[in-house]
Amino acid sequence: MRILLYAGKGGVGKTSVAAATGVAASRMGINTLVMSLDPAHSLSDAFDLDRTLMDKNRGAPIAIVPGLAIQELDVHEEISKYWGEVHKYISVLLSASGIEDVLAEELAVLPGMEEVAALLYVNQYAKENTYDLIVLDCAPTAESIRFVSLPKTLEWYMKKVFRVERKLVRYMRPVAKRVSDIPLPEDEYFASIERLFQRLHGVDSLLTDPEITSVRLVTNLEKMVLRETQRAFMFFSLHQLSIDGVIINRVFPEEGSDSFTRAWQKSQKEYMELARSFFHPVPLFPIPFYSSEILGLDALAALGRELYQERNPADIFYSRRTCEFSGENGRHTAKIHLPFLEKGEVELSKIGEELIVRMGNFKRNLILPRAFVSLEPGKARLIDDYLVIDFGGSHE
Ligand SMILES: Nc1ncnc2c1ncn2[C@@H]1O[C@H](COP(=O)(O)OP(=O)(O)OP(=O)(O)O)[C@@H](O)[C@H]1O
Ligand SMILES: [Mg+2]
Repeated sequence: MRILLYAGKGGVGKTSVAAATGVAASRMGINTLVMSLDPAHSLSDAFDLDRTLMDKNRGAPIAIVPGLAIQELDVHEEISKYWGEVHKYISVLLSASGIEDVLAEELAVLPGMEEVAALLYVNQYAKENTYDLIVLDCAPTAESIRFVSLPKTLEWYMKKVFRVERKLVRYMRPVAKRVSDIPLPEDEYFASIERLFQRLHGVDSLLTDPEITSVRLVTNLEKMVLRETQRAFMFFSLHQLSIDGVIINRVFPEEGSDSFTRAWQKSQKEYMELARSFFHPVPLFPIPFYSSEILGLDALAALGRELYQERNPADIFYSRRTCEFSGENGRHTAKIHLPFLEKGEVELSKIGEELIVRMGNFKRNLILPRAFVSLEPGKARLIDDYLVIDFGGSHE
């Protein structure tokens, strides 16, 4: 079983690429599901499907061709299915605080609930072996990032907060009514959270196993987009997900003759070099800028061929963790995988949150996690193909 997660800034082409990957894989006989995690679904639009068909289906998978299905989660459906008690309690709480009922209903959809619903499906499909490949079409980076951090956050919450909270509520129940009108959650509320958590069990190890899950970042050759891609690169690495490709979408084809196209080509050429140095040694997959949008099965199949050529989209294109950050015993270290490089003097400089590594004529820029930003890089050692940088003591 493989899980591919397509993430990137808004509008870069995630849905098109995820859909094309699904088409390409299914044509190789791989039983594939493409699932949209973006509440603003557009997967069915990419396949040029009738919207009413999707709406009627209420978030269940729909078969497109043999071996290929797509699924767009229906938030309200999922929330009533999995979050029933929690949603009910929060809306009661909000109405008791004086918020109008209709608004309370709406507000009681907490951030993260949808992502949990998606994770539940991924876990279920993996356990039941429903598909050979699950392609996840993520929401724009800010939200998809929450998706990968959820299992860890929930685990922390269950271990550190949940039990205490439940005990506290039991203890307070006899007196609470006398001091406040705000209702306390019932036992069923806690039981349903516990059930939910159990159903999520194991999803974290699916996501962090490089043999199962690979992240593919979709980007364009523009300064701001590349910057956000670098940030996502750091973030996924920090959460121990493996990135096995960076898809460079909307590359202007070579033969531009007018000044407008030539200007774009010139700047794209420079940014392509930058992208190479940002993401080395993760392979880049360029896609040309087409003269029209990518709609329907045939267009998606053509995009899939362009992207993977003869390769299997479910292959692992790169399996090492490109960078790892650790902060054990107050010592912070960054470990960067830099194979195929001529060894030489390592030069490090840090500007704000960015670390610049220079070795011979190679340069690599890396955005650092928050815990590293106030620290200065110290010694750097090359151990096998890894550059290990010591950031010294804790900044506290
Ligand atoms: N290489 C390309 N050439 C021409 N049009 C493209 C290309 N890639 C994507 N498009 C078009 O750009 C639009 C946005 O693409 P898409 O929906 O795949 O992006 P997205 O990253 O999923 O966006 P969102 O962040 O809104 O989910 C679509 O109309 C798509 O057909
Ligand atoms: Mg999209």
